[in-house]
Amino acid sequence: MRFVPANCLRTGQVLASDLVLNKNRILIGKNVRLNEALIGSINAFGFQGVYIDDEISEDLRIANVISDELKTKAKREVRTMFASVETPSGKRGVRNIDTLKDVVTNIVEEVIYNRQAIVNVVDIRSYDDYTYSHSLNVAVIASVLGGVLNLSRKDLNELVTGALVHDIGKVFIDKNIINKVSRLTHDELEDVRRHSRLGYDYILTNSKISEASKIAVLTHHERFDGYGYPAGLKGEEIPLFGRIICVADVYDALVSDRPYRRAMLPSDAMEYIMSGYGTMFDPDIVDAFTKRIAPYPVGTCVRLSSGVIGIVVGNYEHSRLRPIIRVIDEGRLTSTYIDLAEDYSTLNTTIVEIVNI
Ligand SMILES: [Fe+2]
Repeated sequence: MRFVPANCLRTGQVLASDLVLNKNRILIGKNVRLNEALIGSINAFGFQGVYIDDEISEDLRIANVISDELKTKAKREVRTMFASVETPSGKRGVRNIDTLKDVVTNIVEEVIYNRQAIVNVVDIRSYDDYTYSHSLNVAVIASVLGGVLNLSRKDLNELVTGALVHDIGKVFIDKNIINKVSRLTHDELEDVRRHSRLGYDYILTNSKISEASKIAVLTHHERFDGYGYPAGLKGEEIPLFGRIICVADVYDALVSDRPYRRAMLPSDAMEYIMSGYGTMFDPDIVDAFTKRIAPYPVGTCVRLSSGVIGIVVGNYEHSRLRPIIRVIDEGRLTSTYIDLAEDYSTLNTTIVEIVNI
């Protein structure tokens, strides 16, 4: 199977997995052949793309860092948590923190178990559940980065807890501003920027959330060069969890469709992160990031400088920009592989663009 962006879907393509709406309602089932109307619904519901099964991706296995079951459970708990803040009883703090702790433990266990997996963050989600998917993706990326940085299991648990609730303060900001399509005014921007402190204030008295997780919420928009908010902390004045969540947060936002712009390609988003090396982001965390996040995830179709088109079938940790490609000729998969990292005859060959087949 492979991921195809919603705007590149064609009639006749076959869904590789159920397309699920909020509350676990299935919009389109696995193995259904897409027609114009179904592609229309996929776009109308705001899905960024879907996994399809076709000839060129028949042998591809997408190795997820966390299982689909855990993903569904985690999104449900994050949704419950955000909803609990908006009810009067929410004043007591995050209501489902005990079930959330189970989710945190499961995420850390699965990320440790799959520690060799290269992360492909592009995922199936619609606009409606952006907040929940984003919270979960940030938690997964943060724990992967924490793993590269050799954090202890206790630290990883606290980091993931902070990541899951990092944007909880947005519940207190006017939704019209949060979802605004056009450019924010100066005052609106100032208002949005209150969310990290509001989130911190909200969880401050919750004794089941550690101090480190709370501080992570407060500091996830600080920048390494001191130009972030709310306090303008600089370098290692920013606690480590805030520095990690900052990178995870920016990357996941860039590869997501937003009401005001389309998603960036993973390779372009990675370049953006690399461009913030030592300015916006902690260089050690950018290094950890480039080790484990794939700019060309398995299933991506690419054109090489030699003119060859192929599908990415493997990635190397030591050479993220140079994956293994299986050649596609006239729309058909061939038995020819090009190993951009290990085969010296390809030294002068580069990936020039991502193509949609
Ligand atoms: Fe935020």
